[in-house]
Amino acid sequence: MSLSIVILAAGQGIRMHSELPKVLHRLAGKTMLEHVYNSASLVNHRQIYVVYGYGGDRVKNAHAALDAEWILQKKQLGTGHAVKQALPHIIEQDHVMILYGDIPMITSETLHKLERAASGSGFSLLTSYFDNPTGYGRIIRNDIGDVVRIVEEKDAAGEERSICEINTGIMVVAAGPLKRWIGALKNKNTQKEYYLTDIIEMAVKEGITVNTINPSSAVEVRGINDRAQLAEIERYYQLILAHQLMRKGVSIMDPSRFDLRGDVEIGQDIMIDINVLLEGRLKIGNNVTIGANCCIKETIIGDNVEIRPNSVIENAIIGKGCRIGPFARIRPDTLLDDNVHIGNFVEVKKSQIGKGSKINHLSYVGDSEVGKDVNIGAGTITCNYDGANKHRTIIEDDVFIGSNTQLIAPVKIGAGSTIAAGTTVVKDVESGVLAIGRPEQKIVTNWKRPKKHKH
Ligand code: UD1
Ligand code: CA
Repeated sequence: MSLSIVILAAGQGIRMHSELPKVLHRLAGKTMLEHVYNSASLVNHRQIYVVYGYGGDRVKNAHAALDAEWILQKKQLGTGHAVKQALPHIIEQDHVMILYGDIPMITSETLHKLERAASGSGFSLLTSYFDNPTGYGRIIRNDIGDVVRIVEEKDAAGEERSICEINTGIMVVAAGPLKRWIGALKNKNTQKEYYLTDIIEMAVKEGITVNTINPSSAVEVRGINDRAQLAEIERYYQLILAHQLMRKGVSIMDPSRFDLRGDVEIGQDIMIDINVLLEGRLKIGNNVTIGANCCIKETIIGDNVEIRPNSVIENAIIGKGCRIGPFARIRPDTLLDDNVHIGNFVEVKKSQIGKGSKINHLSYVGDSEVGKDVNIGAGTITCNYDGANKHRTIIEDDVFIGSNTQLIAPVKIGAGSTIAAGTTVVKDVESGVLAIGRPEQKIVTNWKRPKKHKH
């Protein structure tokens, strides 16, 4: 069957109490809509349509990379009205799969099953059983168990509210009849909305069987209406992600204290301690250890790297055998070549550090090019900013920089040179020399320390 997929994403999401349209709220770093789209895109389809409205172009602009056709629903008059906006684009011969921007955990496996279930009568509906069905439409069946209609919670009679089989809203319907039924919808209900759910009763009246199937797990069809539900699904999903990684060769000390907000390509024998956050696109090699409380974003990490606790790394490339932290900060556009050591309270920004070089304590290295086997002592600062412009520092191979050195950029230190501790380097230093710039030490003998006054 040729399939058109319609994702409804025009609603505001009042219960989020947010200026941001609901489908832009994020789950594991991706918008809810992106999750739905990703599952939908794995089902064979002719086209994916996204119905948007609340928040104007924000929803559309946030997903410019998606291969979808965007359909504006100017006023949010209900789920039936939302589907109606997409129908003129859909050919009669198609089947239509309807998905919801606020049901992000739906899997492509379930969608495949649903599609197959529609092949006979042309109508399949995904339902589920919730212990607490509050807020969902309920499935009404007749004596022989066939679905006859759906009643929304707000329109349900007392005994109908106790039904635990709920409408997920997700369905596959033949386009021809769908167009006819949508055209006949009325908004005579508590919410004065055009309910998509009313088409079930119309189909049944025409003698069409609505085939129902259930997802493998009820969590897949949980709608997210407020931030508490979002947080609950986030934890659930993070556990799934942690388990996926563990099955591929990552040891995670505590899967309930691990967060992945993006995509990670991993090697094996990776050790991740507690409270680690990985964000964006990452690539991690073999035999890598990440200590507790590290945040790592958009970074490539080579083999045999050790990242010690409380380090923050963003947009960097870390070569093989590097050792970073504890308490290191590696900022964007940093490239550490193999076997570099970055120690505690060291900040590196927009710099290249050559093979085997060490910056072990309390330093700032920014806008710099550091060669190989360089040793940068404690408290070294590249003074890269003059208040208006940034300037570069170049440190060639095999340089030794003593502690408490300031390098006033732009400046270049030639290969093999030594900078004495406490020097403020204001001009280039040629290769193989010692640069020393500190006041000479004086000695005052018989010095008496001041005494504390008595009151
Ligand atoms: C809907 C179903 C309910 C089902 C529940 C499952 C109807 C009438 N009710 O209720 O039976 O149990 O989903 O989660 O269909 N939307 C639009 N345009 C609109 C209205 C809604 O695009 O005019 C979108 C929303 O952005 C949202 C989705 O449709 O993504 C569902 O709308 P929502 O108002 O949340 O419906 P529910 O009350 O949850
Ligand atoms: Ca909803």
